[in-house]
Amino acid sequence: MSSFSPMATRDLAAVFHPMTQISTLNEQGPMMIVRGEGIHVWDEAGNQYIDGLAGLWCASLGYANEEIAQVAYEQVKTLSYGHLFLDKSHTTAMELAEKLKQMVPGDFSKVFFGLSGSDANDTQIKLVRYYHNAIGRPRKKKIIARQKAYHGITFAAASATGLQPFHQGFDLPVEGFLHTDCPHHYRFAEPGESEAEFATRLAASLEAMILREDPDTVAAFIAEPIMGAGGVLVPPETYFEKVQAVLRKYDILFIADEVITGFGRTGEPFAAQTFDLAPDTMSLAKALTSAYMPLSAVMIPEFMYQAIAEISKEWGIFGHGFTYTGHPVSTAVGLKVLEIYERDDVFAKAARLGEQFQTHIARFADHPLVGEVRGRGLIGACELVANKQNGQAFDPASGVGKYALARMKANGLICRAIGDSLALCPPLITSQDELGELFSRYGRALDETLEWVRREGLLAA
Ligand SMILES: Cc1ncc(COP(=O)(O)O)c(C=O)c1O
Repeated sequence: MSSFSPMATRDLAAVFHPMTQISTLNEQGPMMIVRGEGIHVWDEAGNQYIDGLAGLWCASLGYANEEIAQVAYEQVKTLSYGHLFLDKSHTTAMELAEKLKQMVPGDFSKVFFGLSGSDANDTQIKLVRYYHNAIGRPRKKKIIARQKAYHGITFAAASATGLQPFHQGFDLPVEGFLHTDCPHHYRFAEPGESEAEFATRLAASLEAMILREDPDTVAAFIAEPIMGAGGVLVPPETYFEKVQAVLRKYDILFIADEVITGFGRTGEPFAAQTFDLAPDTMSLAKALTSAYMPLSAVMIPEFMYQAIAEISKEWGIFGHGFTYTGHPVSTAVGLKVLEIYERDDVFAKAARLGEQFQTHIARFADHPLVGEVRGRGLIGACELVANKQNGQAFDPASGVGKYALARMKANGLICRAIGDSLALCPPLITSQDELGELFSRYGRALDETLEWVRREGLLAA
């Protein structure tokens, strides 16, 4: 007889859970979420949680927004489906592309729509190849990403991803993907090395990799401005300035993966502004629709579009696109979400709330378990360590991150454990009071974890 609820039992019998350790899931059962409103979600037993990760870093306007629901409903009645293949188009895709061109910093000429961050990055990688072939540089194909990067899970995006679980068993990365150093100062700097010195060393290491590979074979560098799934890793001072100089020197395209950081997350509308980035192309998804509908966008510059248009005289159709590229309901929802961002001044309010968020999280720097506090705007993490003085990590087998995550849940807070880093990325619409409540739950869970860690004797002597 199963100890799980009837709903959880049915779920386990039928659903293949992605990104899950299946052996553990089968023992512990799924958490069935049945409802969401504002920044809260409820499980099947009626327990309320603050969604401290905005779903998967995406539900920036929270849950159950009535206006968005209305727009989706109206769009279903007006034009529930339309595609963009060949000569077809529809108004919501057109208007959203126009709006993104206005809103996104940089000089982009066209917008390609997909449905997920992964497919946006796959599109990017295919575009880079197509473009270089079109302009007669067929050797320029290699993609450089970074260790601990997360760019999604489709074949090419997962190859760019620099995290072992997304490669293991899948025979990835495929050929032509390289991973340069992870820019996490706390973990990877030499003793006494400043952030700026660390950044100089990483840029030199990137340059050495490019020279080793032959610059004529390196097509593009892809990077998240803040690495999310790698542990909320904020780049060290001067990092992107130095990296971009290397890319320019060797004529290497820069793809900014703003799938998490886009739309107000870092205290500016886009992280390109926060970190002074001038990418050639950009991937957007998640908060583009505040996760009310699946949608991604690839922002494409004129020079790339022109090269592709020119070669089409010879090659015929550009053979890439999805049945649901520019889906009318997704693009209508995207338009409404962007309208709400502007009308309600969501990014400016999120920037102010982000300052409070950083003040709250910075207080945990004194906590005996916390080795590093990091973040920017409304995204952050605390990394738990066995020895606060020297940053020694816990033995992964001791499961400290998992324990802390369970305490968060018991205290009514959903967040994410990335190893022993506990990540937060709450909806942009979180109120000041809600933010205070979120951090008091987070703090209680850390204290309870500390008690357990002491009981188990896991702190380093
Ligand atoms: C930076 C980044 N890129 C790409 C993706 C992949 O997005 P999706 O899960 O929508 O395919 C994610 C997902 O978390 C992400 O964080």
